[in-house]
Amino acid sequence: MRHLLILSLAGLLITPQVHARAIPNPNQRHAPGNEEAQKPIAEANYSVGVNYQLQCAGCHLGDGSGSAANDTPRMKGFVGNFLKVPGGREFLVRVPGMSQSALNNAQLADLLNWLMREDGMAGKSVPANYQPYSADEVATLRARTMLNLPGTRGDLIKAMRAQGIAIDDGMND
Ligand code: HEC
Repeated sequence: MRHLLILSLAGLLITPQVHARAIPNPNQRHAPGNEEAQKPIAEANYSVGVNYQLQCAGCHLGDGSGSAANDTPRMKGFVGNFLKVPGGREFLVRVPGMSQSALNNAQLADLLNWLMREDGMAGKSVPANYQPYSADEVATLRARTMLNLPGTRGDLIKAMRAQGIAIDDGMND
């Protein structure tokens, strides 16, 4: 019983000191190598793959397989089909994940052209007559807000179906 009393008294004495440690130390400095503010990604000159991992993979996953549970369609082996229907080319730039990303226009154009590589995410879905996106085209398209995204996407999917394209976007698996 006496031990218990001494222990709780000791606890009472220690508590304020434990809390005091949470107060920021005014002499604290940045960790070595971390002294400068981080460069914005639009100026950081990362490779396309790194830009994808930093800006897109959180939702689309590393390999573009997406996640139906999070309403994120599969790009892998499918995303190129949007280029086969009218309005699809514009749509790919105007989705919020693209148009509102922190990447600049040239980086977004590079990223789209990277997605459309046959050995990339689009795979065989990319049309034979694929014309690469330019930074200027991206600049114009991303500035045009899409008001009815689900309706626009639904119409594009319908147009693909009419062409006999299999809708393998992972949303109806
Ligand atoms: C916050 C989650 C999120 C992030 C981050 C994100 N996306 Fe998306 N993306 C989506 C969702 C959800 C859709 C489906 C359309 C919609 O609802 O916006 C989509 C659609 C797309 C589409 C059209 C394909 C389709 O099937 O609809 C492309 C292309 C795309 N994203 C590329 C990207 C790229 C490239 C990046 C990174 C620069 C990115 N996204 C970042 C969630 C995201």
